[in-house]
Amino acid sequence: MINTTGLTKTYEGGPEAVANLTMSVAPGEIVGFLGPNGAGKTTAMRMLTTLLKPTSGSAVVAGHDLLGDPREVRRRIGYVSQSGGVDPAVPLGEELEVQAMLYGLSRARASARAAEVLALLDLTGLETRPGGALSGGQRRRVDIAFALTHRPVLLFLDEPTTGLDPRSRAALWDHVRRLRAEQGVTVFLTTHYLDEADALCDRLLIMDRGRIVAEGAPAALKTGGRTLDEVFLDLTGRPLGQEAGA
Ligand SMILES: Nc1ncnc2c1ncn2[C@@H]1O[C@H](COP(=O)(O)OP(=O)(O)OP(=O)(O)O)[C@@H](O)[C@H]1O
Ligand SMILES: [Mg+2]
Repeated sequence: MINTTGLTKTYEGGPEAVANLTMSVAPGEIVGFLGPNGAGKTTAMRMLTTLLKPTSGSAVVAGHDLLGDPREVRRRIGYVSQSGGVDPAVPLGEELEVQAMLYGLSRARASARAAEVLALLDLTGLETRPGGALSGGQRRRVDIAFALTHRPVLLFLDEPTTGLDPRSRAALWDHVRRLRAEQGVTVFLTTHYLDEADALCDRLLIMDRGRIVAEGAPAALKTGGRTLDEVFLDLTGRPLGQEAGA
């Protein structure tokens, strides 16, 4: 579902944010980038979603060449950005409908699809609520609902649960698991949370200063009874969450 070869991004006058990233994600997997602030997670994700041009390297995403065929890639993926994008003023149902119509559905079909994705994320009943009148956890679910409107086969989630309380986080994990189980969606996410990575991901790519420093199933990385915290500390010499380069 994702295959990258030597994907690199050097910001102009800035750091090499992603360095020679070679990785793959199989259909139906839930894979997570785990890494501290500034590790390059968002940069990598923005390249994979066609929003940022790589400095070098190549990738095939959802069956299409990232650089040669970005439109086809975009048609098959959904993306929830780190900051989200719910309009505070527009009622949810309406906004979802417009979104579905932008993807070419008739009004009737768009309305049906809006109801479907709201139900999928347990948001039924909130159709008339504007984005500004939702809790943080509800808003994050709405972000995901938007990203699902066009039935993507691959969903990118950049820090889906940052700022949510423990109950909302666990609920969102359930939704992500169900998306995979019931719709067969492949999920690629980023997180700072070890418990989230452990609970949700089949496989983790631990990223530090633009590079993958470890890779494997959460259980495999925890060999010798070490926690992921300890694994990370061993690999990088600093605790997770500490600013890269600090
Ligand atoms: N538009 C930009 N221009 C210049 N440098 C940037 C830009 N965006 C990000 N960077 C730098 O690239 C590096 C990687 O940033 P990135 O946002 O990919 O990290 P991240 O792993 O997503 O971090 P966080 O956990 O804080 O979201 C950082 O050093 C950051 O300051
Ligand atoms: Mg980020």
